[in-house]
Amino acid sequence: MPSIPTSAIGARITGWGRALPPKVLTNHDLEAMMDTSDEWIRERTGIERRHIGGTTSGLSIESGRLALEMAGVDPSEIDALVLSTTTPDRTVPATSATVQNALGLKCGAFDVNAACSGFVYATVVAHGLIAMGSKKVLLIGTDTLARITDWDDRNTAILFADGSGAAVLEATEGPGQLLAWDLDADGSAEELLYCEIGGTIHMDGKEVFRRAVRIMIDSARKSMAIAGITADDLALVVPHQANIRIISAACDRLGVPMERAAVCINETGNTSSASIPLALFDAADKGRLSPGDLVLLVGFGAGMTAASAIIRWGV
Ligand code: UT7
Repeated sequence: MPSIPTSAIGARITGWGRALPPKVLTNHDLEAMMDTSDEWIRERTGIERRHIGGTTSGLSIESGRLALEMAGVDPSEIDALVLSTTTPDRTVPATSATVQNALGLKCGAFDVNAACSGFVYATVVAHGLIAMGSKKVLLIGTDTLARITDWDDRNTAILFADGSGAAVLEATEGPGQLLAWDLDADGSAEELLYCEIGGTIHMDGKEVFRRAVRIMIDSARKSMAIAGITADDLALVVPHQANIRIISAACDRLGVPMERAAVCINETGNTSSASIPLALFDAADKGRLSPGDLVLLVGFGAGMTAASAIIRWGV
């Protein structure tokens, strides 16, 4: 298990932003489109409504701009843009190129695709850039899954949605916020959740569910072991917003009460790369985080990937 060298330069989040498309699709809207019910979707997933529409670049520009404004950082100061997405606007170039230009950044820009674990992967990559000398990195997680959803498939159409979350990371004296991280993947499970180029999402929901809980807690335990902490030390768990039953089962097995989980799935559905930053910054905006709080980010997704990170808020 890799751990952060004590000599590494750390980073802290100095600004953040969230973006959701204006169009809201409720469970009742879905009732009119397919054989499902508001009651079933709420009970089986925890989702009540979701936002759909827009492009990955458009939502990224919106959340990225808000993060820069909050951090008080001029676009010219950003040394790298890391965009996590599984739904790029085009195959080539990376969507980060469009975002870099629109935000007026003068730096390297690239996309990361690790499906719904992507934001945690990108967080680790961004910290790596800072450890290697970058001073300010713009980190964005965005997905527009509505575009690749089969709206006749009630197995997936009730889950997926669109959104974006962004953070400015700045180099800091001392170890910084990231205390530990873990990135996993099991490519032998790729047929459980995939989308061909130009196609729509196919998913074995039951099997994804079964594996999700296990791989999330495995990854979370690895990060907690590296950080030398236990579940009792966590002020907040920010899980991938895929299904409230997955979140609840994972918290239960980690020994963290649900009151300490960040949950926004009822409002957002599953927004893949955006899910963890939307939940984290929703909690921050609601005043749920204090300086020094230990926060666990933990995700899973197609691949099947899993990823976790322990951050110390506000350092
Ligand atoms: O980012 C990662 C993305 N993927 C996930 O996290 C997916 C993980 N899996 C899940 O969230 C759940 O497996 C689903 C929400 C997809 C499905 O929930 P489930 O509790 O596993 O339902 P099920 O497939 O076992 O179906 C139970 C019943 C079936 O009816 P019968 O056979 O018991 O009569 C289904 O036909 O519910 C029926 N059903 C539905 N009914 C109304 C399945 N989907 C629906 C629906 N509306 N949308």
